[in-house]
Amino acid sequence: MLNQIGKLEQEVRAAIKAADDLGQLEEIRGSYLGKKGAVTTLLRGIGRIPVESRPQVGQQANALRDLIEQLLAQRAECLKQLTTGERWERERIDVTLPGRPVALGGRHPLTLILDEIKQIFIGLGFQVARGPDVESDYYNFEALNIPRDHPARDMQDSFYLSPQFLLRTHTSPVQIRVMERLAPGLPVRIIAPGKVYRRDDDATHCPMFHQVEGLAVDRGVTLADLKGTLSLFVREMFGSEMKVRLRPSFFPFTEPSAEVDISCVICGGGGCRTCGQSGWVEVLGAGMVHPRVLKISGYDPEDVTGFAFGMGVERLAMLKYGIDDMRHFFSNDFRFLRQFR
Ligand code: DAH
Repeated sequence: MLNQIGKLEQEVRAAIKAADDLGQLEEIRGSYLGKKGAVTTLLRGIGRIPVESRPQVGQQANALRDLIEQLLAQRAECLKQLTTGERWERERIDVTLPGRPVALGGRHPLTLILDEIKQIFIGLGFQVARGPDVESDYYNFEALNIPRDHPARDMQDSFYLSPQFLLRTHTSPVQIRVMERLAPGLPVRIIAPGKVYRRDDDATHCPMFHQVEGLAVDRGVTLADLKGTLSLFVREMFGSEMKVRLRPSFFPFTEPSAEVDISCVICGGGGCRTCGQSGWVEVLGAGMVHPRVLKISGYDPEDVTGFAFGMGVERLAMLKYGIDDMRHFFSNDFRFLRQFR
């Protein structure tokens, strides 16, 4: 009987070693440990052998059963690793293949223009200020000398969030915020770039667009300083041959006020469709800061003067790059964006 157990052990060791998939291992388990398996049968027949041999045979048979379980588990583990190894072999990376190119993005044309505007004004000693997109009625209108029922509010159809708060319609409220903070410090020299919002939507108007506000306050600031500053800016931006003219206009927060035109960048001043045959295109609004605005922000209009201006960034970009529809900036069309790398 003990002989038989020894033989079984040899047999099963060889079988497990030879098995090369998990299915075969299951078959081996069945033929030794299953209901009619060799080891099971042996254990069942233990009652037919002499009483004195039973303990030893029983012990050996049980040990064989445990051994088989252990060998089966070991072999299964081994087979699993082998298959992973084979997979690695098949998927081996060929390091000699050319790499996949990384798609590089570029800066948005408006970012390029904004950066350029900032650089020019920083060079002139201006600092960059910011204000919130959600603005109060006070800063957006009231403090800029645009009272509640003033018709000037009609020029800027607005998105209101509540009777008191709205999406700012221009960057001019930053003028007030900056002066309030600095008063009575001098000089004030800031530009304020940012998003503004109006209920407009066509080829030359978007409900969201960008402006850059400018403000300079000091003793003895004049309209000549305004024109000099803007002329320098325009020549840096569009070329040294550019001409600048101021046309009288009206803004509630400046006095006097002006629309600023530059020579048409498309035709160079000869007259074309873009400039309506006039040779000039309007690029910004400007003026001398209204005494009431200075006063409400903490400055003495008897003591100091200031100039201010506000320009549309999309408009400048359209002129500079010859873009005919403002909506291109926001449609995320690669064919458009790719041209500005
Ligand atoms: N805030 C004006 C607008 O959006 C533009 C403007 C005009 C700004 C004259 C100024 C200014 O600072 O002096 O239409």
